[in-house]
Amino acid sequence: MAATEAVIVRAPAKINLELRVGPVRDDGYHELATVFHAVGLFDDLTARATEPGAGVSITVDGIQADAVPTDDSNLAVKAAQLLAAHIGLESADVAFELRKGIPVAGGMAGGSADAAAALVACDALWHAGLDREQLLQLAAQLGSDVPFSLLGGTAIGSGRGELLTPVLARGEYTWVVALADGGLSTPAVYGQIDAMREAGEAPQPTPVPELDDALMAALRAGDAEALGSRLHNELQPAALALAPHLERALEIGRKVGALGGIVSGSGPTTVFLARDSSHALDLAVALTASGAAVDVRRAHGPVPGARLVESVRG
Ligand code: C5P
Repeated sequence: MAATEAVIVRAPAKINLELRVGPVRDDGYHELATVFHAVGLFDDLTARATEPGAGVSITVDGIQADAVPTDDSNLAVKAAQLLAAHIGLESADVAFELRKGIPVAGGMAGGSADAAAALVACDALWHAGLDREQLLQLAAQLGSDVPFSLLGGTAIGSGRGELLTPVLARGEYTWVVALADGGLSTPAVYGQIDAMREAGEAPQPTPVPELDDALMAALRAGDAEALGSRLHNELQPAALALAPHLERALEIGRKVGALGGIVSGSGPTTVFLARDSSHALDLAVALTASGAAVDVRRAHGPVPGARLVESVRG
C-alpha cells in the first residue's frame, strides 16, 4: 500500500441553541446542559507527511489568521501530539496548513474544530485506525467542545460539554452569523457569570441544569419559528457585560424580524435564525450597514462533524 502523503479535513463551527450553566464543579468547570448545532462555517486543515523526527509545524491563513498561535499552544498541534503519544509514536511528524473560516475566539469552537480536524487528519495520515469512540475520548482531553466538533449535526451536551447524545432533529436552518471586533476569553465569560450570580445580578443556577422541552420539541418538529423563540444562552448576560456593544447587533436582529438571536457560546459572535435565504440576506445587509458587525456570514445547519475530504497517496 502506498504511503499517504497528505490529507485534507474539514471541520465545522458550532453554535449552542441552548446553553444552561450549572454551578462550578470541584474541577473548576461548570456543569452544562446544552444543545450543540454544527453550522456551515468551516476550517480546512491540510496535513502533510514530513521527515521522521521533524515534529509538528503549522501555518495559518484565512480570516483572523494573525490571532491564531502557531506554537505548541495551538490546539491542532496539541491534538497531533496527543494522538502520537496514544498510538506510541516517538515523534508526531506532520506539517499542517490551516485555513480559517471560523471566527477566532468567537464562541463558535474554532480552536476545537482545528483539534478535531487534526485528530481525524493524523489518524488517516499515520494509518492509526482509531475508531470513533477512541477519537472522542482523545477529543475530550483536548477541550470541552472538541468531541462535538468531531460528531457534528445537532447533539445534547452534558458534563462539561463533552458527553454527547445526538438529537433527532428535522429540517435545515438558515443562520446569519455576525462577527464582532476582537474576541472574548471563555474563562473570563464563565468567571463573569459566576460573579454576577454571586452579586445577585443574574439568576442563581439550578444544581443540575436542564434543557427546555419546548426547544427539543421544536427541533423534533423542524419548526424554525418555535426554535427561534426558544434559543437561550445563560452566558449571554456575562458576554454582554464584557462587550455591551453586542446589544446593538441583537437589537437589529429583532428589528429585521429574526426568528431568534443570541450570543454564540461565550461570544462575542452573535447568531440569528432567518426564515429563509432571502430573509438571511436582509438580516446580513442590515447588520453590515449598521456597523454592528465587522463581518457577516450566512450558514446552514446542521452539517457533519470533522471529516476527511481528500487524501493524496504517494
Ligand atoms: O474545555 P475548554 O478548555 O474548552 O474550556 C476552556 C475554559 O472554559 C475552562 O478553562 C473554563 O474556564 C471554562 N469552562 C467552564 N465550564 C465548562 C467548559 C468550559 O468553566 N463546562
